[in-house]
Amino acid sequence: MGSLSLAWVGDKSGVVLVLTTFQVPFFLMRFGQSNLYRSEDYGKTFKDVTHVINHTFIQTEFGIAISPDHSGKVILTGDVSEYGGFRLFRSRDFGLTFEPTDLPFVPLIQMLYNPRDCNTLLTLSFTVLDLWLSEDFGATWRKIHKSVCLVRWGPRNSIYFTTITNGTCNDKGMLDLKKTIDYGKTFRTVASRVYSFVLGGKFVFSSIMTGARVIHISVDGGEHWNIAQLPAVDHQRFYSILTANEDMIFMHVDDPGDSGVGTIYVSDDRGTVFSKSLERHLYTTTGSETDFTAVSSLKGVYMTSILTEDGTLETVITYDQGAKWQPLRRPQNSNCDTETSTNRPNRRCLSFFHSANFTYMPRTAPRHTASLLSLSTGSVGDSESSLPPDVFVSDDGGYSWLQALKGPHHYAILDSGGLLVAVEHTDLPINQIKFSTDEGQCWHTFNFTNDPLYFSGMDSEPGARSTNVSLWGHRNDHTKWVVITVDFRKLLTRDCEYRDYEEWLAHSADPSGSNIGCVMGYKETFLRLRKDSVCWNGRDFAVTKKQTRCPCSVADYYCDFGYYRPENSSECVEQEEMISRALEFCLNGTTEQLQTTGYRKIPGNQCEGGFQPERKEIDLQRLCTSDALLPKTQVSFSYTAITVVVVMAILLMSAIAGVWLVKKYVCGGRFLVHRYSVMREQVEANKIEGVDDVDTNYMETEKTHFNDDSDQDLLE
Ligand SMILES: *[C@@H]1O[C@H](CO)[C@@H](O)[C@H](O)[C@H]1NC(C)=O
Ligand SMILES: *[C@@H]1O[C@H](CO)[C@@H](O)[C@H](O)[C@H]1NC(C)=O
Ligand SMILES: *[C@@H]1O[C@H](CO)[C@@H](O)[C@H](O)[C@H]1NC(C)=O
Ligand SMILES: *[C@@H]1O[C@H](CO)[C@@H](O)[C@H](O)[C@H]1NC(C)=O
Ligand SMILES: *[C@@H]1O[C@H](CO)[C@@H](O)[C@H](O)[C@H]1NC(C)=O
Repeated sequence: MGSLSLAWVGDKSGVVLVLTTFQVPFFLMRFGQSNLYRSEDYGKTFKDVTHVINHTFIQTEFGIAISPDHSGKVILTGDVSEYGGFRLFRSRDFGLTFEPTDLPFVPLIQMLYNPRDCNTLLTLSFTVLDLWLSEDFGATWRKIHKSVCLVRWGPRNSIYFTTITNGTCNDKGMLDLKKTIDYGKTFRTVASRVYSFVLGGKFVFSSIMTGARVIHISVDGGEHWNIAQLPAVDHQRFYSILTANEDMIFMHVDDPGDSGVGTIYVSDDRGTVFSKSLERHLYTTTGSETDFTAVSSLKGVYMTSILTEDGTLETVITYDQGAKWQPLRRPQNSNCDTETSTNRPNRRCLSFFHSANFTYMPRTAPRHTASLLSLSTGSVGDSESSLPPDVFVSDDGGYSWLQALKGPHHYAILDSGGLLVAVEHTDLPINQIKFSTDEGQCWHTFNFTNDPLYFSGMDSEPGARSTNVSLWGHRNDHTKWVVITVDFRKLLTRDCEYRDYEEWLAHSADPSGSNIGCVMGYKETFLRLRKDSVCWNGRDFAVTKKQTRCPCSVADYYCDFGYYRPENSSECVEQEEMISRALEFCLNGTTEQLQTTGYRKIPGNQCEGGFQPERKEIDLQRLCTSDALLPKTQVSFSYTAITVVVVMAILLMSAIAGVWLVKKYVCGGRFLVHRYSVMREQVEANKIEGVDDVDTNYMETEKTHFNDDSDQDLLE
């Protein structure tokens, strides 16, 4: 059983570390061997450097821990149990040399870097669940707390964790949520009777047992908690936080019954008062993934799927943080399945489904790239059609889509969008890579080898600035991994000049916009590469953009608590179940009454003047406790796990000479499998939770999807 994990070390360093492990379960023991390889040239050549770590076995679960600050720090957790313990191999020079350090405990999870100071690490120890901290990059460790169930780095060097008060970690609803801001010198219990917690954007979410499980939200790191105010909630429903950014929260509330659909609610900037955003939202409870995705580099653009009344799957998009959703337009040059298109309006034609069956590729552009391109897989026609999904490209933030490739493909964006590459998804060996220099309109092929390869994955340096892409696979004999790196630099013979770029007004493709280009209260003009320019953007390329503010219109507002927008309407209407009910809620311990005309500005919206509806929150001077106002609902904290990371799991059964699987999720220990590039996932997980300093305008933490924690899995 072999597995491979790959990690890029640093940015622009070209260093790639690859760890292959081979483990055999044997009665209650495990025997294994691992090898470490290192490349300094973007994966073109690799050296076996296993001797550098003294041939120590690295367990698949620990993988390669890379510091998120690109400083070249690497930690490998070696298993030297034959000498009674675990040994860290620490490198500060991009994996060139490693320093061994014996650990005074048996680690349970991978080392967690403090995203703000990568010399500080956290981990939990096995069986006793002690929380250990190191402030000198793993050289010395001190135990800072006992009986810890789940730990996370928070903003400004804070550490949040749940701890057992009485019983075990499985006694959820009995845990304490604690916080330390001085690396474990002092602790503060910020909540008790906690079920679980999540950090996202500026928010801390905690589900607390108060009779039932209820979501409490804090914007000040747990000092004050408020209960999510959702209109019309009843029994037997679950909540799930889809995403949270610096401004607000998207929450899915399950519909009654087992329909699989629910309603998306959007919060105010305190995360307290929610209003309805989208009905019939499809929440795929099978697997841990929903279709909810941030689409492009434009702020506030999200895409997800709904199940229409007639049972078809439809993809909808919002450009303004969920104030208004619209179906995706039918893509150009696609042959819509004729039978369905005759009795269905065309706008129902395109659906991007990201359900668990399509586990072989990341879906949209890598986050935080300078590219305005989005790629997605999906089908034109309805969801029941068995057509294989095609690849679509949008160059305008999701307004229009072009069918770029027929059939399923793996793809990558290179040179900040100047180059797209793709390989066909097939079980047969391949020798061709497709590439496009005009944003997916025309594709060319290149034979990268004479001896075709069973393909198992494709990767390029995070950030999509490279011109190198590596393809992973094996040949017929199954004995060796093969990596082929293709450098497209020669193709882009000249550097891009000013005349290769054109001005482009974001959201100008929106036909309904009365104030052309105004979304989220501003207009944004980008300088972007012309489609017909074949040139090299270069590593330092950054999108140039200009912003101007717009006057407010009704489109800059959400419907307030208790109000909603009927289809095709821009006006907000009061929800039936809320009519003649006083809009009161408990905020910071006193009852507040909401006086609203039905509109509330979208958090993060920058519009000025224009439409300014009246809205007041009146403090009724009446004390309240959160508990007294609790709606008695069944709340379950269901985290979604959307990882952009391609997760490869490779199972090589020696009996059948090589069965290769590419899986996205690890199958609860039934196979010894591995998450491809575990560390990158880790890095991004850390980013999510320490986002207070992220440039909220352009580097919105789109990937604020919460991972169901792997350390949690290990506890159960
Ligand atoms: C390397 O491993 C061997 C046993 O495999 C051990 O005797 C030796 O001390 C180790 N060397 C270092 C530098 O860790
Ligand atoms: C601990 O839990 C047990 C049962 O779960 C209960 O009987 C006992 O009173 C609890 N102790 C404390 C200190 O809460
Ligand atoms: C490229 O490979 C394909 C088979 O995959 C073959 O048909 C074609 O002739 C090759 N082209 C070149 C130029 O070698
Ligand atoms: C591609 O890889 C080569 C080394 O093989 C490196 O010199 C070059 O900078 C890389 N190109 C980019 C754009 O990263
Ligand atoms: C919304 O508008 C579309 C086309 O403009 C129309 O087909 C549809 O019936 C309208 N829906 C409602 C509820 O009026």
